[in-house]
Amino acid sequence: MEQSGNLDNSKMSCRNLTKSFPSKKQNFLILDGISFDVRENEFLVLFGPGQCGKTTLLYMLAGIEPPTSGEIRHGGKQVLEPDSSRAVVYQTMALFSWLTVKGNVEFGPKARGVSKERRERDTQHFIDLVGLTGFENSYPIQLSGGMKQRVGIARAYCNNPDVLLMDEPFGHLDAQTRYMMQESLEKIWQNEKRTVVFVTNNIEEAIFLADRIILLSNCPSRICAEYDIALPRPRSVMDPEFLRLRKEITAAMDRVVDKEGGQP
Ligand SMILES: Nc1ncnc2c1ncn2[C@@H]1O[C@H](COP(=O)(O)OP(=O)(O)OP(=O)(O)O)[C@@H](O)[C@H]1O
Ligand SMILES: [Mg+2]
Repeated sequence: MEQSGNLDNSKMSCRNLTKSFPSKKQNFLILDGISFDVRENEFLVLFGPGQCGKTTLLYMLAGIEPPTSGEIRHGGKQVLEPDSSRAVVYQTMALFSWLTVKGNVEFGPKARGVSKERRERDTQHFIDLVGLTGFENSYPIQLSGGMKQRVGIARAYCNNPDVLLMDEPFGHLDAQTRYMMQESLEKIWQNEKRTVVFVTNNIEEAIFLADRIILLSNCPSRICAEYDIALPRPRSVMDPEFLRLRKEITAAMDRVVDKEGGQP
């Protein structure tokens, strides 16, 4: 299928990315010829089956993991290492247990030497935005799973990144909390427009949040389809167009998963 070409409003670009990890007998190919652009201020969802290499791809965009071949650019500059202009919200939230909510959120700006006044202002702004007002002095152990993910999102935003990279941030939450968090994240994103790349293997989450969905195949992963999601926001899972898209993308995913693709 045709993949996205160079776009004027492209914020990041990936060209012909491959990634393999060494295994006992041979190199294990995870990603095979991935090319796409991330547009300015778009909410891009990378959607694919379990173990297809979504986290690896996101870490490559972050600069945490180098591609085996191919090139990633951010703002025209090649991505070679992690940078505070790209914030990552991890699949399993890794908060600093010895720091309070405020301490966690202000960690990045503090490390970068942002002035106390600016830091205090930004920290409170993002704590308020994610709905944690009043919990500034709580420790992670005192928070629910959903609240911890809120801290993670506030922490990522507080670094004032150009691009937010989110790896299944709600994957470990119960269905009800997950739905609340999706609504909340959408509101935050509408308030504080940012370029977001969001990984999920949940179809409803993908359609609820995405401007565009990129469907990845089984490992070794390739891009097998792209969907522009033009539904008005906030979206309803009961909207007939939502249901139609869910059916269409689920069928495409089933075809992808049915295909032989895994490696020993
Ligand atoms: N550092 C590594 N060394 C060797 N193999 C790795 C490494 N990181 C990931 N892999 C392998 O690459 C494959 C893809 O892993 P990855 O975590 O990127 O997939 P994923 O789509 O995020 O999975 P999940 O749906 O479980 O989150 C897996 O088979 C995994 O074991
Ligand atoms: Mg993963």
